[in-house]
Amino acid sequence: MTAGPSNDSVVFNPFTPEFKNDPYPHYAQLRRHVPVQEHPLGFWMLNRYDDVHALLRSGMSVEQRNVGPGPFRKTYEYAGVPIEPRLKGLAMLDRDPPSHTRLRKLVSKVFTPRAIGGMEPLIRDLVDDALDDLALAGGGDLVPSLSFPLPFTVVSRMLGMPPADNDRLRTLTDTLMRSVEPVTGPEVLRAVEAADVELSAMVGEAIAWKRRNPADDLLTALLAAEEDGDVLSNDELIAQVTLLYVAGHETTVNLISNGTVALLRNPEQLELLRTRPDLEDNAVEELLRYDAAVHNSRRVTLEPYEVGGYVIPARSFVLANLASANRDEAFWGPDAEELKLDRPNARRHLAFGSGIHFCLGAALARMEGKIAMGELVRRFPGLRLDGEIEWNDRISLRGPARLPVRL
Ligand code: HEM
Repeated sequence: MTAGPSNDSVVFNPFTPEFKNDPYPHYAQLRRHVPVQEHPLGFWMLNRYDDVHALLRSGMSVEQRNVGPGPFRKTYEYAGVPIEPRLKGLAMLDRDPPSHTRLRKLVSKVFTPRAIGGMEPLIRDLVDDALDDLALAGGGDLVPSLSFPLPFTVVSRMLGMPPADNDRLRTLTDTLMRSVEPVTGPEVLRAVEAADVELSAMVGEAIAWKRRNPADDLLTALLAAEEDGDVLSNDELIAQVTLLYVAGHETTVNLISNGTVALLRNPEQLELLRTRPDLEDNAVEELLRYDAAVHNSRRVTLEPYEVGGYVIPARSFVLANLASANRDEAFWGPDAEELKLDRPNARRHLAFGSGIHFCLGAALARMEGKIAMGELVRRFPGLRLDGEIEWNDRISLRGPARLPVRL
């Protein structure tokens, strides 16, 4: 066993044009040659399904302040920003038990399957309207017409956010999500910090407004959520609402766009979805597996952690490569790289994580993805690509920035 750097011939490098176009061949190389890697930039990376699954279920810390001295921490020091952004450090995604348990319990009291199920009519209406507009135009860019506005409107309406400057919000959430990118520089970290402060202030104002204007929505319910006399503090509220708001749309946009790209590139599977509505539920799982909307999760070791013949030292930052795990042939079999909407075990993908931080919005995302993609392919039998896909320049939340389709 070794804790030192391996003489790896293949190093995770998300900055090549090939990776930008299609990261999966690179992930396959990583799985083959360096399933566990100590990266020169100071973090560790796990690429195999079993290792990623075990890590997520290990109860390991998610609190970045636990990272020890080294290049990872230095990037933050150099940028002059705290390793835990102000309010982000209070969101459940960034907390360990018992704080995580408490926050998740309070939010789960209002973010219930019933509340999520209640969004179905709105989702159907929004999808119908978006597809009507697309039909009228004979096609167009799917990102601004369907993939982005659907989850954005749904989560805003579900929370009951007051009307706001949506363009500004979009810019801020876009910047904020760069904090989950595995490799960033000081400028990005400073921009993230500034966006965090501005977005937190906007959400704080929305909460203050909601206190004066209660309604039948999630924000009002969160203000009242209470467990044995325990309630969320104002800062905790801001952090949970910001998380729900941002996670609610910055991820699902990729599920709809990446899923549509996968279907368009596999016409026989698209045809299967069109003709077999009974496959819809499984199709969404397979599309999540095939091209994950979120490529990485992060953890911090609190003690030495053994994996794949290595010992990762305590206080290391570890990236779990969810997207690679979802294509690991050792788990899925020799057809792991193929899209098969009827794959029997598709639901075992790790696109929503696993363990105590398993995505709280999974049911909402599944419903949005199922209705959006199902209706799209059924309504437009001639659906096809109409030009080059432009990818957003993200590593973790990878998806198209522009997805031109013709009907
Ligand atoms: C396709 C869409 C989505 C994907 C791929 C996704 C992915 C994930 C992943 C991988 C995690 C776990 C991260 C970790 O273990 O470190 C997570 C957590 C979370 N997600 Fe999602 N998500 C999606 C949609 C949503 C939606 C629609 C919402 C809410 C409206 C949401 C809210 C959350 C929350 C609150 C957490 C934190 C849970 C916790 O820490 O206990 N997500 N998501």
